[in-house]
Amino acid sequence: MSKGSTPDRADFVVVANRLPVDLERLGDGTERWKHSPGGLVTALEPFLRARRGAWVGWPGVADIEVEPFADDDLQLHPVPLSAAEFAEYYEGFSNATLWPLYHDVVVPPVYNRSWWNAYRRVNRRFAEAAAEVSAEGATVWVQDYQLQLVPAMLRQLRPDLRIGFFLHIPFPPVELFMQLPWRTEIVRGLLGADLVGFHRPGGAQNFLWLARRLAGFEPSRGQVGVRSRPGMVQVGDRTVRVGAFPISIAATGLDRLARTKEIQQRVKTLRAELGNPKKIMLGVDRLDYTKGIDVRLHAMHELLAEGHVKAEDVTMIQIATPSRERVEHYKQMREDIEREVGRINGEFGRVGHPAVHYLHTSVDRKDLVAFYCTADVMVVTPVRDGMNLVCKEYVACRYDLGGALVLSEFAGAAAELTSAFLVNPHNLDGVKDALLAALDIDEAEGRRRMRALRRQVLTHDVDRWARSFLEALGTPLAE
Ligand code: ADP
Ligand code: F6P
Repeated sequence: MSKGSTPDRADFVVVANRLPVDLERLGDGTERWKHSPGGLVTALEPFLRARRGAWVGWPGVADIEVEPFADDDLQLHPVPLSAAEFAEYYEGFSNATLWPLYHDVVVPPVYNRSWWNAYRRVNRRFAEAAAEVSAEGATVWVQDYQLQLVPAMLRQLRPDLRIGFFLHIPFPPVELFMQLPWRTEIVRGLLGADLVGFHRPGGAQNFLWLARRLAGFEPSRGQVGVRSRPGMVQVGDRTVRVGAFPISIAATGLDRLARTKEIQQRVKTLRAELGNPKKIMLGVDRLDYTKGIDVRLHAMHELLAEGHVKAEDVTMIQIATPSRERVEHYKQMREDIEREVGRINGEFGRVGHPAVHYLHTSVDRKDLVAFYCTADVMVVTPVRDGMNLVCKEYVACRYDLGGALVLSEFAGAAAELTSAFLVNPHNLDGVKDALLAALDIDEAEGRRRMRALRRQVLTHDVDRWARSFLEALGTPLAE
């Protein structure tokens, strides 16, 4: 990472809660930058690097000031957060209010006025940073639920800008959204954008309904399509478009990496290290209660207990990136999951051969690709997920047409990956049946399904997502 001089104002600016790199303080007092967790960075970073844009975001550590710097062709503009703001804006309002509310109230959202004030204050700081960095007439693309007030705040500061907003998580049913004490402020904040994007048409449709109910505007009436037929809301002399743009991954890069000799060698080593079991099941997630990690562990437990699978034949690997570790429900969930892994291994493991390998860590890209290529069954069982990129990454890596995908109906990706084994994660028997079917699939059927999945993922990559969004925003990219 080269720290450069303060960069010029940019024509294309991404504003997100996190920079694509997090500052990490090591035990010996030194610092280093590491890749930030989560799907947002996975999706946007390759795209923005190729276009030499600027990225405004938090550097991942509270109570520090970092000067703007260049990371290759990307200009990074750190926005500081105090420790109190981290607790109230990030852990509090973003991740203990909005996150559960937008994920079907999987756990009860907390409504706290002091957190809301911090959210407003930090959103203003992001808007001011974006206003400072953006060139005259620039395109600014604001990301995700942490920054929903930024579009309107930024428009006030800089009416010359073209502003897009994309929500990376589900937008909830209106009955749930109406719980939020600050619901009107959020809707008005988003309406500051020229284009508001969601993963699915249903989210766009919900937002259009709320624009009328809460902000009193008259939205268009037709059905919103996927990458087509955006809805419209007339806000004074501006027309705000509201559309659906399912996000994706840099699929060809993963496909290419998976084919390399280095990865193929790692796959062999990995299988051997696991004791060459007949079948390997894999889960890869941020350690989040929405991801249904408990669902797949319970299913595995019952399959072992009922004798449908044997621990010497089938091994499960769960890789879980640490996430939001001080937030109460995350602490609780981690304890529950680790207890369940311990139970399964206690009952069914043997010395040197656990039934479940559990890694509480982030793995690097090459290792991740090797894990995907090793897995006979990829298990993705969120109780709610805006899109889920892990399942698309798995498919992109399976150039050999091997492997099978078990995917929750409640992930946005299920609408596109219809050749997966689709499951309702609330129906444990259904999940168990799908796991057994995926483990036992015959080769021809497996290849047929994987071919169909790959056709979808390789033709609908992240570049297509970004292009379709920016075209709808009225700022198409040059080839
Ligand atoms: P979310 O944005 O909620 O975290 P996604 O599935 O959309 O969920 O994106 C997760 C991203 O983080 C993917 O690119 C995935 O490869 C990456 N990821 C998740 N868990 C790990 C892990 N343990 N190690 C490395 N990368 C991970
Ligand atoms: O896509 C959901 C999301 O919250 C992103 O906004 C974020 O980058 C990612 O998951 C990881 O979460 P966090 O930044 O809270 O670690």
